[in-house]
Amino acid sequence: MEASEKPPIGVIGVGWVGLVTGACFAEVGHPVVAVDIDAGKIEALRSGAPLPIHEPGLPELVERNRERLTFTTEMDEVLAASRLLFCCVDTPPTYSGDADLSRVDAVVAALPDGAEHALVMKSTVPAGTGATIRRSHPDLVYVSCPEFLKEGSAVSDFLEPDRVVVGADPGSEWAADAVAAAYEPLGGELVRTDVASAEMIKLASNAFLATKISFINEIANVCEGVGADVNEVARGMGLDGRIGPHFLQAGIGYGGSCFPKDVSALKMLAGNTGYHFQLLNSVIEVNELQKRRVISKLTKHLGSLVGKRVALLGLAFKPNTDDMREASSLVLSARLQGEGATVVAYDPVAEGPAGAMLPSVELSVSAAGALTGADAAILVTEWPEFAELDWEELAGLMSNPLIVDGRNFLDPERLRGAGFSYEGIGRG
Ligand code: UGA
Repeated sequence: MEASEKPPIGVIGVGWVGLVTGACFAEVGHPVVAVDIDAGKIEALRSGAPLPIHEPGLPELVERNRERLTFTTEMDEVLAASRLLFCCVDTPPTYSGDADLSRVDAVVAALPDGAEHALVMKSTVPAGTGATIRRSHPDLVYVSCPEFLKEGSAVSDFLEPDRVVVGADPGSEWAADAVAAAYEPLGGELVRTDVASAEMIKLASNAFLATKISFINEIANVCEGVGADVNEVARGMGLDGRIGPHFLQAGIGYGGSCFPKDVSALKMLAGNTGYHFQLLNSVIEVNELQKRRVISKLTKHLGSLVGKRVALLGLAFKPNTDDMREASSLVLSARLQGEGATVVAYDPVAEGPAGAMLPSVELSVSAAGALTGADAAILVTEWPEFAELDWEELAGLMSNPLIVDGRNFLDPERLRGAGFSYEGIGRG
């Protein structure tokens, strides 16, 4: 079959997940029609304006596949084009910690009755959502196909998946087959299962990865007491095939739009079914405390932080994204200011979102600008460019060359050689 003969795919919600999903399906040859209620966003995508999100490789992918990508505000256009409708709307946490499903509900309400179309749920939803939707819409063909994309490497994660999970219940088999066929050229193990299990795979995977991070962060804190180096400990642990090397990087806590939300959603989901998920309480608490431990590392060297100038290197929740949601920098800057410090910061791409979320933080256009006159620096996000900085020169610009490496990203010997007092996380 020629690439252009592949069946069309509909995408509902053109946020980060929807745009990556649509562009990647177009890349492998599917005509894609993507709908969003935000007319401004659709107009910008049609006109070729810069993408509203920073995701490496995505602008090129969208550009290369323009002929196969249609952006619209009209649901009817998507319904006419495709039987498979990938639901990619967001499900932000509510104040109670439950997932807000109002956007998913609006999509379901907009679908016609009958089995002509299938709703393929990519949005992260609590286990049981598929069953709830089908109770109120018994004819709806429904497939759970959770996404496992990481911000910053979403395009390659999509095009080279570890596994593809397709959950469907009796009556929805044709759609599950069609979804599996769409993913088939990408490789990756196919997990065909029921809807509730597919939903749980997503939440359990994110909660387990968050647990791994909180675990290694606690090990790091113990390493500090016994003079061990957590990087060495993680290396030695990770070589055990049962443990694996991934997500054992100690630091100042996980952030982003997924882990905090999904850990909390799973905890609430368990609670709603009458089960108290004790472990996840600790995972969340360790993560909160980890962000705050930096303060004591500073006071150890500086005493009171009142009147001190502290520079943050990096603000985004991780490198290669401008995403500031649940970023450790938010808590950290508030705590520093609460202790009486002035906070100045530099991030290579997150300046726009950071400016809106951190109005009382001085934003600098370079690392050197942020460090000039500072009493301490904290490396918050491990942007590759920070490894290349001229640290000898930067030490000379600071009032006091002290650095807390919140991601264990820099070489302690090199920094000490450059004249810095260096503090890592769990590095003896
Ligand atoms: C995460 C999952 O990794 C994806 O599989 C999932 O699809 C996605 O959530 C989602 O549910 O949409 P993401 O939030 O983009 O992806 O970012 P990660 O790369 O997983 O990092 C999350 C946070 O953990 C970051 O703040 C990062 O700095 C931190 N982290 C990660 C550590 O502190 N240590 C590590 O070893 C790894």
